Amino acid sequence: MSERKTVFITGASRGIGHATAAYFVRRGWRAITCSREPVPPQCPRNERHAHITIDLAETDRLPEAMERLEELLSGSPLHALVNNAGFSPKAEDGSRLGCLDGDMALWERVFRINFFAPVFFSRACAPHLAEGRGSIVNLTSIAGHRVHPFAGSAYSTSKAALWCLTRELAADLAHLGIRVNAVCPGEINTAILSPGTEALVERIPLRRLGSPEEVAAVIFYLCSEEASYITGAEIPVNGGQDVY
Ligand SMILES: NC(=O)c1ccc[n+]([C@@H]2O[C@H](COP(=O)([O-])OP(=O)(O)OC[C@H]3O[C@@H](n4cnc5c(N)ncnc54)[C@H](OP(=O)(O)O)[C@@H]3O)[C@@H](O)[C@H]2O)c1
Repeated sequence: MSERKTVFITGASRGIGHATAAYFVRRGWRAITCSREPVPPQCPRNERHAHITIDLAETDRLPEAMERLEELLSGSPLHALVNNAGFSPKAEDGSRLGCLDGDMALWERVFRINFFAPVFFSRACAPHLAEGRGSIVNLTSIAGHRVHPFAGSAYSTSKAALWCLTRELAADLAHLGIRVNAVCPGEINTAILSPGTEALVERIPLRRLGSPEEVAAVIFYLCSEEASYITGAEIPVNGGQDVY
């Protein structure tokens, strides 16, 4: 029997991360997840699933989370790291926060969660991923490439930085046998979307929002043997939103 593989997914309490954990577990992987709250009792658990409770904005506590991850791995390799957790702040009335909006503490919080946590986990997990000849997938955003009507400036610049990090990691980790790619969603039907997103649908060639499972499938593909010659790529999952 082949060895059961392990994936660590950040921010899997809902949305794309939750769907991704379920997608990997259905395919026989063990999923280790993290988010700010413990897993609620109604969430079906089995011995393939473990959870770390951590606020990724608390940069000083990331080494603690890594120690817990290493305890859970107990010497076995890691086969995939999915840097999925993301924070997209809005104004109190739900509107977009531009470059002149929000205080510096908010910009810093966005970058801690969206950028520095992926930097930390990619570096800390590299030896474990090397043992598993594993891969990293970073969740970037269409907002990292163009001004978005709802996504704010701090969020968008953090996602552009995450795409650059993907490229740098792909170059630096290839000699360890680790592939590093990004999945770049457009408008996916999760809690992160702003009110009014439906108005964007008419500008999406496929004329609908994407589902978290459609993103999970691409993340899984990039972590699979089928993608063994893909590194340093960013795959859009956006229904054609960027063709115009
Ligand atoms: N949905 C879209 O249309 C879309 C488009 C482009 C990019 N993306 C990206 O795709 C990824 C997933 O997005 P989503 O739509 O699934 O968002 P979501 O439904 O809002 O879920 C975000 C996840 O991140 C976790 N998270 C947020 N802040 C955290 C913190 N401080 N510490 C630990 N975990 C934290 C949340 O956990 P808790 O709040 O429970 O702690 C939750 O599990 C994000 O990186 C997002 O930027 C999404």
